[in-house]
Amino acid sequence: MTATPGSSHSIGPVALDSPLIAAPLAGYSDLAFRLLCRRHGAGMVFSEMISCHGLIHRQKATFDLCRSIEAERPLALQIFGAEPESMGEAAAILAESPADVIDINMGCPVRKVVKKGAGAALMRDPALARKVIAAVVKNSPKPVTVKIRSGWNHQEKNAVEIAKIAEDEGCAAVTIHGRTWSDGFGGRVSYDDIAAVRRAIKKIPVIANGDINTPADIDTMREKTGCELMMIGRAGLGNPWIFAAKPRPTTPAALMNAALELLDLMERHAACAPGRGKNIISRFARGFAGAAKLRQEIFSARDMKSLRMSISRGGLGKKGLSSETFKE
Ligand SMILES: Cc1cc2nc3c(=O)[nH]c(=O)nc-3n(C[C@H](O)[C@H](O)[C@H](O)COP(=O)(O)O)c2cc1C
Repeated sequence: MTATPGSSHSIGPVALDSPLIAAPLAGYSDLAFRLLCRRHGAGMVFSEMISCHGLIHRQKATFDLCRSIEAERPLALQIFGAEPESMGEAAAILAESPADVIDINMGCPVRKVVKKGAGAALMRDPALARKVIAAVVKNSPKPVTVKIRSGWNHQEKNAVEIAKIAEDEGCAAVTIHGRTWSDGFGGRVSYDDIAAVRRAIKKIPVIANGDINTPADIDTMREKTGCELMMIGRAGLGNPWIFAAKPRPTTPAALMNAALELLDLMERHAACAPGRGKNIISRFARGFAGAAKLRQEIFSARDMKSLRMSISRGGLGKKGLSSETFKE
């Protein structure tokens, strides 16, 4: 995945065939979901955040999060932590991973993460943030990116300062989610905060993130911020068509076809817990008559076989759909 002259989008040497990137979503962004996003047009996919300590302690569950296959690339593996040494060590361990890019999480608002100084809390300590970024860049043979928020709260907005640090320290791109830590996921994304970072950063791409829910939102984000690269999170759940800037289909058959495609990918590639799988699959059962009943069926399915039957019936009545369509 090396950028060739003339390829329109790239992060360092990594070429992207679309400017729309699938965001890291803890609990969702496993290999199966990422493959679905890529198949439907995402230019790049991100793993969910991975603990640097889990990597250092060689925990199996952590290494499982790093599993990948060629078809999903380019892939960014996102790491989180607050100590420069540990983050550098984790980056060195990932040198052997299939990742094309290593991303540093500086946006996670979850209490147990920020309590330890990681995620969004790193933005409150720019000197430490610089050390973390420098350690990761130094130890990673792969391009390094950083994902930030607007700042800690509306009195402490320092996205521009942190983005400049990332640029100075040799990062290949910065993603900004235009909300502060105190906003959580509420209210509306600030286009102004994203545009300010875009204006301040001259040498590397800025990836705009937040509240892209429809194809029209993609154009709005580009116009309001000047960013070409964009990252989409929640809207991609149950709607991978957003990555091709297409509207979500309205027919149950089209939606259930994609749900079956994801189910096949889950069975083939990801050892995800059934509960987690049902949550992702249920996102397709929205927006048509009978969707609520279908969601109930999905959540009460006892095993993969009955889950598959519910989805098939939900799409086409008794006859159902065939998963043969989706064989690779
Ligand atoms: C359930 C959930 C899990 C998330 N997990 C991560 C994560 O692991 N790493 C990260 O940087 N951001 C994470 N985010 C933030 C998203 O990547 C994204 O920045 C945010 O949802 C805003 O984009 P959106 O409006 O397109 O969803 C998560 C968000 C949600 C809702």
